[in-house]
Formats: sequence, C-alpha cells, structure tokens
Amino acid sequence: MNARDATATNNLEAFWMPFTANRQFKQAPRLFVGAEGMHYVTANGRRVLDGTAGLWCCNAGHKRPKIVEAIKRQAEELDYAPAFQMGHPKIFELAARLVTYMPTGIDHVFFTNSGSESVETALKIALAYHRVKGDGARFRLIGRERGYHGVNFGGISVGGIVANRKMFGTLLTGVDHLPHTHDIKTNAFTRGEPEHGADLADELERICLLHDPSTVAACIVEPVAGSTGVLIPPKGYLKRLREICDKHGILLIFDEVITGYGRLGAAFATEFFDVVPDIIVTAKGLTNGVVPMGAVFVKKEIYDAFMHGPEGVIEFFHGYTYSGNPMAAATALGTLDTYEDEGLLTRASELASYWEDALHSLKGLPHVIDIRNLGLIGAIELEPIAGAPTKRAFQAFLDAYDSNLLIRTTGDIIALSPPLIIEKSEIDVLFDTLSGVLKNLH
Ligand SMILES: Cc1ncc(COP(=O)(O)O)c(C=O)c1O
Repeated sequence: MNARDATATNNLEAFWMPFTANRQFKQAPRLFVGAEGMHYVTANGRRVLDGTAGLWCCNAGHKRPKIVEAIKRQAEELDYAPAFQMGHPKIFELAARLVTYMPTGIDHVFFTNSGSESVETALKIALAYHRVKGDGARFRLIGRERGYHGVNFGGISVGGIVANRKMFGTLLTGVDHLPHTHDIKTNAFTRGEPEHGADLADELERICLLHDPSTVAACIVEPVAGSTGVLIPPKGYLKRLREICDKHGILLIFDEVITGYGRLGAAFATEFFDVVPDIIVTAKGLTNGVVPMGAVFVKKEIYDAFMHGPEGVIEFFHGYTYSGNPMAAATALGTLDTYEDEGLLTRASELASYWEDALHSLKGLPHVIDIRNLGLIGAIELEPIAGAPTKRAFQAFLDAYDSNLLIRTTGDIIALSPPLIIEKSEIDVLFDTLSGVLKNLH
C-alpha cells in the first residue's frame, strides 16, 4: 500500500467514508490520531496546522480543558436521560444560556444532533407554524442555488448543489430557488461584502409573484454560503430579503451552521449583519464539534403559536432520541465557558483585517482568479484545469497536507476557516505555506 501516513496499517476497507473519494483515499490514507490547540497530529507524527477548524466546527481549537473536563464529569454523573416527556437540568441551563446570545424576540430553542437535522427541524417548524395559525396553504419553501443545508431530504431540496440532489428522486415538492449571489466578473477580489448584487434578493419577489405569496411558508439562506466556496452576501442583500419576507408574511430562516458561534466576529451572523430572521439554524461550533449537537432558535411568536389546545397534548410531533442529551449538553456548556473566558465569540473581529491582508496577499499567484473574505473566513478560487474541474484545488489540498497545513476545497475553491484561537504568527505560517503550495501548483 502506498500509505501517505505510514502507520495506517489497519484494514480501511469496511468503512464507507462520507463525501470522500473512497478508493483514492484508501490508496494513500490521511489519518489524524491526535489534536491540540491549533494542530492535528498525523498517524506518522506530523503536526498539521488546522486551517479549517475541522469542518468549520472546532472554533475553540482542539483538546480544550473545560470541554474535556465537562465530558468526563458528565459521563460519571448522568450518561443519558430520555428526551421525550423527561428532562435533565443541564439542557434547560444550556437553552436559557444560549438564547441570551440571540436578538430580542428569539427566545426558544429546539435541540438536534447535526446541522442537517437542524435544517429539517426548521423547515418542519415553519410549515407547522403556518398550519397551527390556520394558514396551512403556505407550503412552499424557497432555498437558493449553491445553498448547502445538509444532506437530508428537506435540506437537499432547498439546497442548490446538483451533485447532492440528482441521485435522489423527486425530493420535496413545492420548492423553488433564488439565484446565487456569486459574481466574479463584477466582484472579484472584493475585500469583505461585495458592493454589487443586493438586487438579486428581488428575485424572491418574482418567485412570490409566480406562485402567489400566500403559498410561501419560508425562505432559507446561509448568511454566508460556506460549503459551495464561501459566497459573501452583497451589501444590503440580506436586509432586502428580510423586507420581502415581511411584506408577504414569509418566515426567514438563517442557516448559521457555519456562521454561528463567532465565525464572523459576532456571536451570530444575525448580529453581524443586523438582520433578524424568524428562525436560526445552528450546529457545529455549538459543541466545538466535539459531541454532535444542533440547535434551532425560534421567535417567541412561533413557539407561542404551538402552545394552544389541551395542556396534556404534545404540541409538536418532532424530536430525536438524542435531542439535548446530557453528554452534548455538558459539552456545549464547556464550549460556551471556553468561548466566554477567552472572548472567542468576538475575536474574529479583532483578527479580521490582519486575516484579510494576509489572504489577499496571495493575489497574483498562479491560477488565482478570486479571493474573498469575511470575519475569519477566506476563499481562494482557482482557474479550473480545462476538462478536469476540481483537480487543481484537490492537488493544492494534498500539497498543503504534505506541507503540514489542513485546508478544505470545494470545486476549485480553497476555503479557510481556522479555529478562532489562531494567533497572528499562525496566520503568517498558514499563508506562507499556502503561497508556497500555489506557486508550485500546475
Ligand atoms: C450551512 C450548513 N448547513 C447545514 C450543514 C449540515 O451540517 P451537518 O453536516 O452537521 O449535518 C452544514 C455543514 O457543513 C452547513 O455548512
């Protein structure tokens, strides 16, 4: 075996890896066996700088003492409590604490185990909300091209990534899509939010007129689209979406699975952009990626709309065996402690301009056709190799890994989202390494 990591000698065959080129990976596996702070440790002992916070989730870095301690304590104290018709103190504590980060009026939270489940939960809440209000004709869901909302049926239906959709039949019916906002011709190499493109939000008005607004339940967008290559919203775009939703009684859902928990320099993108949606979908950074957990935040009106009828009747027929399980709750509390003690939910705002300068210094390197950034997010778009899309960026990923740097690629775009604990000296190492990789890329 041509093992990239020499000690990976165990049998790799049985595991069907997610979103991975299985056969290619198993020829030359890349295995992490440890992690601490800003670094992973590979199976053959190399320290790799984490340029992606795992998968946009380890916002506080790795092996953080308060999180480790919280997990140990919880495993000794209470391993599991039934999620339905029973509770345990930590999940109520977590809910009460989490809603304090929310804008006024968003004050209830439903727990899940992932971003995908949070998305399904949000879409179901939106549909059921209109129904309990006696407005059940609102069944349409509007997503966006190049949107990523996880991999379950609702999420791939409102999402806009063809490879994630094409194999899976008819998906949800009653779904339409806004155009994406990515416009390299006009906005290439913009620092921060692009000046042009807010008018793309008006497409929501057009879609509403096509179907009649009284049939539309909700519109879901990522404030910053991450998985399809970091698409920064044009200035004013999200505000315009909010206005159109208000005009037509449509719920606005922000999928903050990557923007939540400090990524942009504010606790959530709703604060960063000063636009308040009706529902906020989160996961990932909620537990620093350590134990799976998601959380869906809703406005008081939405929760209250369900709290009618006889008191002994379950108000919302939805939930997961692990909704708010004790291990996840303890992990989330340990994570919030870490974020607060170290000021991590706003740290990205302190680093943003240093990050921006370092990232944009790569302009002019071979194949680089766009660079974009916001908070502690960055993207470098490469010219695809003719007839072989994705190949160039994937080679950059492999070369970076061999140079002790973890990056992430999607299509021919390199996406960067380091842990929020990154130091300026580590930002320098990250971009020096990446610059070396790009200079030698074919
Ligand atoms: C915006 C967004 N929504 C949903 C998801 C799905 O999250 P999960 O992989 O935890 O199901 C992701 C994952 O990257 C995401 O970026």
